[in-house]
Amino acid sequence: MDNIISLAKRRGFIFPNSSIYGGFSSVYDYGPLGVELKNNIKKEWWRSIVQMREDVVGVDSAILMSPKVWEASGHLTAGFADSLVECKRCHERFRADKTREEGGVKGEDKCPACGGELTESKKFNLMMKTHVGPVEDESSESYLRAETAQGIFMNYQNILDTARVKIPFGIAQIGKAFRNEITPGNFIYRMREFEQMELEYFIKPQDAEKTFEYWKSERMQWYLDLGVKKENLRFREHEKSELAHYARRAVDIEYNFPFGWREIEGIHDRGDWDLSNHAKHSGKNLKYEDYYPYVIETSAGADRSLLVFLLDALESIEGGRRAERGSSHAERDTREKELVLKLHKKLSPIKAAVLPLVKNKPEIVNKAKEVFNILKPHFIVQYDEQGSIGRRYRRQDEIGTPLCVTIDFDSIEDNSVTLRDRDTMKQERVKISELVKHIQN
Ligand code: GAP
Repeated sequence: MDNIISLAKRRGFIFPNSSIYGGFSSVYDYGPLGVELKNNIKKEWWRSIVQMREDVVGVDSAILMSPKVWEASGHLTAGFADSLVECKRCHERFRADKTREEGGVKGEDKCPACGGELTESKKFNLMMKTHVGPVEDESSESYLRAETAQGIFMNYQNILDTARVKIPFGIAQIGKAFRNEITPGNFIYRMREFEQMELEYFIKPQDAEKTFEYWKSERMQWYLDLGVKKENLRFREHEKSELAHYARRAVDIEYNFPFGWREIEGIHDRGDWDLSNHAKHSGKNLKYEDYYPYVIETSAGADRSLLVFLLDALESIEGGRRAERGSSHAERDTREKELVLKLHKKLSPIKAAVLPLVKNKPEIVNKAKEVFNILKPHFIVQYDEQGSIGRRYRRQDEIGTPLCVTIDFDSIEDNSVTLRDRDTMKQERVKISELVKHIQN
């Protein structure tokens, strides 16, 4: 975790929010590389869930919704609350239903921080409140959405009326969600503002079990296809006692984080909880033919999966990798630890770095700029002429760039460049005229 947190800050993936004021409340910002990585994750999710399927359509609903939505969904009443205890002496707060390893005090009667007495546990609602309109009274109270799913249910009838879908079909959405978490932490693992990638898949009630199994395996495969190591992933079935208020059944996809196995995505059988409750509260008929569809939901965190992709890809090599062309002896000898971010190429923020071998030869620099201009309409590329070539390779390794394109003296004569692979460190000569195709392949 320390390696990732410092790399994320040092190289511009993730910064603490409002840092000049000492940070703010488990909120984080994404820097130039972070935004590219996160966009790539969201793009891959959208591609597999929406683009490659004929039975799923997308929406982008508003963060603000009528408070009636949250009354009907049960988020204000039934279950969307955590049990909280407070230390009477130091006033630190803890989750009553989580163990100490998970940031709670389950099974303990004293404060883990100071040994003080703890209060009785009380329920604490996680919805983030705001006021809509100029008058701040009860009638203007509203909430920032705690899950994007409700925005999907609010558009269920609109989609049926306009998108020519038939059951079984799904509606997908990526967007921000907000929760007043009691114990946020572990960097971007648990935040108060985060992004979800959710699919609500509407089915006949009798198909719930097989559809659940289908989405379980689809979603696990997505992480595997994007290079996450199999041994670091597992399913965990929820006990009846821990099911969310809307769920008939839930299975988490968990990742083996440095702080233990934790959830990265939930697959839920929501039954007809949402549609039947919204029908009851709104008075609208939300039945499909003569029944309420059941809903199988897959709910992934964009930030949490970004943390997984970073952690799983990072390799720290003591003493550095084997010598390679271009890096001097002095550099190799002083190298203590090399970081290589072996991200899946589809996720890498920068696809290729364009590196003139030296910066004081105008012919080489001009050729490198020519190559940069050829590549930039096709890929996110970076031009870098600062420092020795070995150091520049390592800079790119650290941010997960799969390919470095080096322009040297021969390039001026033969219009070819050296392409160096991040993982194998193999180098090959490629004609500039074939470079775009080559990188695409
Ligand atoms: N609509 C269902 C739902 O929201 P959830 O299990 O509460 O289910 C789904 O959340 C996913 O959203 C989690 O698996 C996680 O990836 C992400 N998530 C939830 N709370 C989060 C938080 N405080 N910070 C970051 N990600 C969070």
